[in-house]
Amino acid sequence: METIIAVDGPSGAGKGTVSRGLANKLGFHYLDSGALYRLLGLAAVRHSVSTDNNQALSNLAAHMDIDFRNASDGSLVVLLEGEDVSLELRTENTGALASQVAAHTGVRGALLQRQRLFAKEPGLIADGRDMGTVVFPRAPLKIYLTASIEERAQRRYKELLDKGENVSLRALIEQVRSRDERDLSRDASPLIPAADAIELDTSELSIQEVMDTVLNLVYVKGLARVIDQ
Ligand code: DC
Repeated sequence: METIIAVDGPSGAGKGTVSRGLANKLGFHYLDSGALYRLLGLAAVRHSVSTDNNQALSNLAAHMDIDFRNASDGSLVVLLEGEDVSLELRTENTGALASQVAAHTGVRGALLQRQRLFAKEPGLIADGRDMGTVVFPRAPLKIYLTASIEERAQRRYKELLDKGENVSLRALIEQVRSRDERDLSRDASPLIPAADAIELDTSELSIQEVMDTVLNLVYVKGLARVIDQ
């Protein structure tokens, strides 16, 4: 049986970086479930499906043609209908679309099986909002990463500045706040920690410190024998 580690939390809490790092360190597979919702948002725009149309979005979610590949430089390439959408996937606009399509029950149901297919030997780091509560409720280790809204907006601000994008920190704080509100208040799988999740506030922690804390838990629980590949 493969070992599943669920890493949930709001956007900007460090889930992506920490989860990819853990997957590397443990030699596990990685599920970026947010990317599936982002891909669905992009697919909806391409096929002129409204973000309100639960039925059409659910069909699209069940059948959209997507693929994840490793590039030669180690980065992940994401394909939608054969086209590389890796860059478009990460924009604020795509994130907002993802958060809207993710609120539909039908969409979440359609993506459930697709997400579970990522669970393979020796293990999976599942990164998202409902990995520990809905998708992998029996995961033996569930981590819930948080950070203050200001800290999360600040991290995103730095990331965008590094990419040469000119953004206002105040606007980003508002965006993070409204995305949180939508993700927390929706009826379908709202963002909440699983009852058995271990919560970690990363506001004052470096990525390395978060990784070390989680790896320590992996060791203590005896979930992986070899830590370095
Ligand atoms: O983690 P992210 O920013 O790529 O996620 C984009 C949106 O997708 C996020 O606002 C909420 C939604 N999402 C979700 O509802 N459930 C998940 N497991 C992952 C993401």
